[in-house]
Amino acid sequence: MTHSNPALRPHRTRRTTADLLSAARALDREDPLSAWREAFHWPKMSTGERILYFTGNSLGLQPRVAAQRVKEVLSAWATLGVDGHFTGDRPFTTYHRPLAKRLAPLVGAEAREVTVMNSLTVNLHLLLSAFYRPEPGKFRILMEPHAFPSDSHVVASHLALHGVDPEAAILVPGADDVPGAGNVLSNGTLSDGALSASLDMHGPEIALSLIGGVNYWTGQFMDMKGITARLHDVGVLAGWDLAHAAGNVPLELHAWNVDFAAWCTYKYLNSGPGGPSAIFVHERHTARPHVAGWWGVDLAERFRMDPTFRAADGAEGWQLSNPSILMLAGLDAALDAFDAVGMTALREKSVRLTRFLEDALAERLPDDIGIITPAGPDERGAQLSLRVLRGRGRHVYNALQDRGVRCDWREPDIIRAAPVPLYNSFEDVARLASHLEAVIRDVHGT
Ligand SMILES: Cc1ncc(COP(=O)(O)O)c(C=O)c1O
Repeated sequence: MTHSNPALRPHRTRRTTADLLSAARALDREDPLSAWREAFHWPKMSTGERILYFTGNSLGLQPRVAAQRVKEVLSAWATLGVDGHFTGDRPFTTYHRPLAKRLAPLVGAEAREVTVMNSLTVNLHLLLSAFYRPEPGKFRILMEPHAFPSDSHVVASHLALHGVDPEAAILVPGADDVPGAGNVLSNGTLSDGALSASLDMHGPEIALSLIGGVNYWTGQFMDMKGITARLHDVGVLAGWDLAHAAGNVPLELHAWNVDFAAWCTYKYLNSGPGGPSAIFVHERHTARPHVAGWWGVDLAERFRMDPTFRAADGAEGWQLSNPSILMLAGLDAALDAFDAVGMTALREKSVRLTRFLEDALAERLPDDIGIITPAGPDERGAQLSLRVLRGRGRHVYNALQDRGVRCDWREPDIIRAAPVPLYNSFEDVARLASHLEAVIRDVHGT
């Protein structure tokens, strides 16, 4: 098996499938979080058997409490109508506030640094409109290799709006314009060497960075604290897309001095398809000029309908429009599990679960599967990004789908699998490894 960190490559002898499954079941019996999987709806195959679900990094499973929570909002709307904005158990005008308070500890923020609003790409635009202030000679934006396409579109469009040529202004460490750095870019991950080379050569030209805290393609968990500090050293504002990090890895946005961040809540946070996004604005920046709307006006003033904008305190002052309470209800339901379990326990299981998958693949498919995700637990979250070494990866992926195993395919050649500690078991992981082995033998006729 190839690995982006060959020094940490596990060497293991192959267990029989029965032994692998019994080892997994023993770990499940001792897992204090094992009961949580029954708090979710599991998609089923036509046989009635549960799908083996490893795509919580794309769309998290539906918490069983979600329907009830959405019904409560429908019922408040039905019985109270417009009065629901201010009356009832959870008035619509303030529905988002407890959600922001509950999200803050998951990302290591002060409560007033977080608000829930809009969707992720929209929020990245709003944040860039406030933070990207190009000056002659300092106008470039730094991104990671394999940034999510929407982030590239956001960045390129802001550059273009400011009359800056995106081709010339987007800086990706390891790309051609950093001589000698290309060879330190391994498997598409962001290496220290490539970042240093970029900052040494171009630091003063960079205005801002937008980097995925966990990259969607490689699964690399960036050293957010270290990178933020290095960016600040050369006068670069540090912005993070935490779509794949929130609810997945431990974050300390306030303590790490992150300038701004945004994330969606429909992946590891299970709020539902198209669920709301959240933003973090460090408290030193919340008073900075930003685009505004009436929902950012302090509630005591908002319905006076005064044209003067008097911002609510903190990130809440960055709100624009009244949100979809039905979607917020999905998030409200999903956060119950995170309140109860906490990121520390989730992370502890996540590290062991992902390592279990890595080991099972290493012992069964050493010459067939390469993992481009870094091997160190501090450099990854739940996801492993797999490459089928002898080709026909797409066939392998399709065959997994046919067997009721949900991973996903990311062009050009990556199968992503994310064992989610809240609802995946060690047995799920053992079964994934055994399906993958059978499929690869089939596709390659070995
Ligand atoms: C890293 C990353 N950024 C941005 C997005 C875009 O999210 P949205 O469609 O909610 O704007 C996604 C979606 O999967 C993503 O994975």
